[in-house]
Amino acid sequence: MLIRRRRGWELPENAATDEAVYLDRRRLMQGLAAGPILAPALFGAGAAWAADPPDPSAGLYPAKQNPKYTLGRAITPEKDSTTYNNFYEYGTDKDVVQAAQQLKVRPWTIKIDGMVEKPMTVDIDDLLKQMPLEERLYRHRCVEAWSMAVPWTGFPLAAFVAMAKPLSSAKYLKMTTFMDPAMAPGQKQFFYPWPYVEGLTLAEANNELSFLVTGMYGKPLPKQDGAPLRLATPWKYGFKSVKSINRFEFTDKRPLSYWEQLQASEYGFWANVNPEVPHPRWSQATERVLGTNDRVPTQLYNGYGEFVASLYDGMKGEKLFM
Ligand code: MTE
Repeated sequence: MLIRRRRGWELPENAATDEAVYLDRRRLMQGLAAGPILAPALFGAGAAWAADPPDPSAGLYPAKQNPKYTLGRAITPEKDSTTYNNFYEYGTDKDVVQAAQQLKVRPWTIKIDGMVEKPMTVDIDDLLKQMPLEERLYRHRCVEAWSMAVPWTGFPLAAFVAMAKPLSSAKYLKMTTFMDPAMAPGQKQFFYPWPYVEGLTLAEANNELSFLVTGMYGKPLPKQDGAPLRLATPWKYGFKSVKSINRFEFTDKRPLSYWEQLQASEYGFWANVNPEVPHPRWSQATERVLGTNDRVPTQLYNGYGEFVASLYDGMKGEKLFM
């Protein structure tokens, strides 16, 4: 998830994150030269935050597992998938657990607006009471060529779309992460296009695989994994799986995502996993499995073609796999 252009041979894939850190420092230095700037210790672990009240949704977990979605590989140990995160609101390296504890997940309201019959705001706990919670085992493939396999708990995005009642003219669903630089120091970094935004076509949103996640490993979602509500679209690169969503907007215009705004030549709208289309700076042919560090071949649509390939019939002109 880097934005500085380099030729592939200049940067091994495993050096990718370091480059982001480097880039941030470089831009901070540029900012310093330009005038007043934020304190460099933006992501410092020292910030104080009030102890969280007990999670009112804790009793909903674990939910019954839906046996339809199988992994074909071992579940990633919880300690690995919950400590190796991408959550730029809390830092550009993978070690954001401590910083992410600043995120306040209650009260949490979700705005539903745009092209809907009736715009509304819903509280997360009221939403959880209305939605059919289930557990699903999904693979997750990051564009950085690592992967994990996770038992998510949540509900089909299609059930949420039905509740929201979009107008027939709506074509896309835009999903937005909270915006609160006091609670998420990364959002003080002015050179990133906050808030984090992602989008799907309504056909993709209504596909049975699209899942709104509220928990993992039979418990409410940890903050660093995008509590209290995130997306899982397992046939797409992980950056589509927007975290800590507080707004769903139905629209007839294709949303411009966070990463597309930052570097459109590397991160596009479709972002369907495809081992044959390299990222401009590294190969996507294989992936490193979190937990074991084994390197395994990457599959087209991350192995979910039977569910989603038909969504893209006849769309050859589009750049579907970036
Ligand atoms: N959502 C927000 N709001 N901020 C982020 O930085 N990173 C994305 C995605 N959703 C990101 C986000 C990326 S690049 C990936 S791979 C996944 O979250 C990582 O999810 P995980 O940390 O639970 O593994």
